Amino acid sequence: MFKWLVLLTILALVSAEIQRIKIHKNQDHKNTRQSRKQAIQALKHKYHQTDDIIIYEDGVPVYVQPDYGYDYPSENTDDYTNEELGNSMNMYYYGEISIGTPPQYFNVVFDTGSANLWIPSAQCLATDVACQQHNQYNASASSTFVSSGQNFSIQYGTGSVTGYLAIDTVTINGLAIANQTFGEAVSQPGDSFTDVVFDGILGMGYQQIAEDNVVPPFYNLYEQGLIDEPVFGFYLARNGTAEEGGQLALGGTDQSLIDGEMTYTPITQEGYWQFSVNNITWNGTVVSNGSQAIADTGTSLIACPPAAYIQMNTLIGAVFIEGDYYVPCSTVDSLPVLTFNIGGTNFDLPPSVYIQTYTEGNYTSCMSTFTYIGTDFWILGDVFLGQYYSEFDFGQNRVGFANLA
Ligand SMILES: *[C@@H]1O[C@H](CO)[C@@H](O)[C@H](O)[C@H]1NC(C)=O
Ligand SMILES: *[C@@H]1O[C@H](CO)[C@@H](O)[C@H](O)[C@H]1NC(C)=O
Ligand SMILES: *[C@@H]1O[C@H](CO)[C@@H](O)[C@H](O)[C@H]1NC(C)=O
Ligand SMILES: *[C@@H]1O[C@H](CO)[C@@H](O)[C@H](O)[C@H]1NC(C)=O
Ligand SMILES: *[C@@H]1O[C@H](CO)[C@@H](O)[C@H](O)[C@H]1NC(C)=O
Ligand SMILES: *[C@@H]1O[C@H](CO)[C@@H](O)[C@H](O)[C@H]1NC(C)=O
Ligand SMILES: *[C@@H]1O[C@H](CO)[C@@H](O)[C@H](O)[C@H]1NC(C)=O
Ligand SMILES: *[C@@H]1O[C@H](CO)[C@@H](O)[C@H](O)[C@H]1NC(C)=O
Repeated sequence: MFKWLVLLTILALVSAEIQRIKIHKNQDHKNTRQSRKQAIQALKHKYHQTDDIIIYEDGVPVYVQPDYGYDYPSENTDDYTNEELGNSMNMYYYGEISIGTPPQYFNVVFDTGSANLWIPSAQCLATDVACQQHNQYNASASSTFVSSGQNFSIQYGTGSVTGYLAIDTVTINGLAIANQTFGEAVSQPGDSFTDVVFDGILGMGYQQIAEDNVVPPFYNLYEQGLIDEPVFGFYLARNGTAEEGGQLALGGTDQSLIDGEMTYTPITQEGYWQFSVNNITWNGTVVSNGSQAIADTGTSLIACPPAAYIQMNTLIGAVFIEGDYYVPCSTVDSLPVLTFNIGGTNFDLPPSVYIQTYTEGNYTSCMSTFTYIGTDFWILGDVFLGQYYSEFDFGQNRVGFANLA
């Protein structure tokens, strides 16, 4: 504790042990049903799922292909599909990095649910729409670029992000990582990465899930002595501005953002940041008595195992319409909290958090954030992580959660 207090005071003078990165909220990406569907689609791709959604009728699984182009309610499709309203709720959090010498700048999602860095390449195909919309890395323009001579490919659903493995200097908040290997993408699949503010993804998971076993940037950041502790912490503001959308601390935890003690729980499998949840309860109902979860900053919502997906949406009185679950907005305030017991501490999500409200035109809909993407573990995305400060500790292989100050 004392160490951190001292640090905070000298931080302005010395960029020492803990680095803070402002995380921007995606402002262009409006809080519409369409953008939410796209977020879910990107999420599915990340976990190598297809677009199939599984539902149960009388306990029998039924697979449906959701039609992402179609909008609810069908009787009122004229005005609101493209009518975007500014909203404080966001789908992604991203920050700026630079690559090369002189620096070329990119916005990346700091994603605890993957472990590779990739950005679009200046050599990308003219047909790669996502690449044309974004900042591109030009290896020829960097004096510190080295070719690895290797290709890379990361699977996203039925498509892949493919390109070349490059080696260059990657700078995060003034900390220059030498010889970082990353992917420069010449091809991105379909529309997974179109119309999003971020250019690429910087994975912050374990090397075990890195494609081509590439050493993740955070490992090098630590091993090259640029930070003192192999620890990082996220504050994801749910109510911030584009400039103040959150903060990523590298090399420690920003104690000034925490209220009370951090609850730690060990990593049960090194890959994702995976841990055990003692139980999950809702209004006295034990939804889960012992399950696995991962903390994923690169996921917007909450993904449940199949049985819990059905149970949660049933409990909250949600109705399945064209690929999504909805509740009547009038009921939201009276719904009970959902409680995750992690490491012996209860972490509550109120209904105003696990139900998201969208207003398009004159129509307001209230959607459940309990989704299913084919995993048998829970994925605690930004809906959960936005309520708490989260710490990721490679040194002690644990995650921690604490109340926000
Ligand atoms: C990449 O940089 C080189 C060297 O500065 C330049 O000649 C080339 O036009 C650039 N390529 C693109 C696609 O911008
Ligand atoms: C990389 O991919 C290109 C085509 O995209 C191919 O021509 C080349 O042989 C591949 N190189 C390696 C090392 O696999
Ligand atoms: C980066 O690679 C160069 C060339 O191989 C080497 O001289 C240098 O020591 C490396 N730097 C680090 C920090 O690994
Ligand atoms: C969001 O900001 C408003 C206005 O400042 C405040 O009343 C509200 O409590 C904030 N909500 C959260 C979740 O912080
Ligand atoms: C919560 O549980 C109480 C007691 O069993 C029950 O009366 C109430 O209807 C439940 N609330 C909801 C929203 O299901
Ligand atoms: C939950 O699991 C624990 C340990 O397996 C067991 O002791 C307890 O009875 C279970 N509780 C419920 C409500 O099923
Ligand atoms: C949930 O787990 C905690 C910690 O093991 C335990 O104290 C609590 O009784 C459990 N709750 C239920 C409903 O099983
Ligand atoms: C939305 O509400 C306004 C004000 O009540 C009304 O003038 C307008 O016609 C409505 N639009 C639609 C599409 O219902």
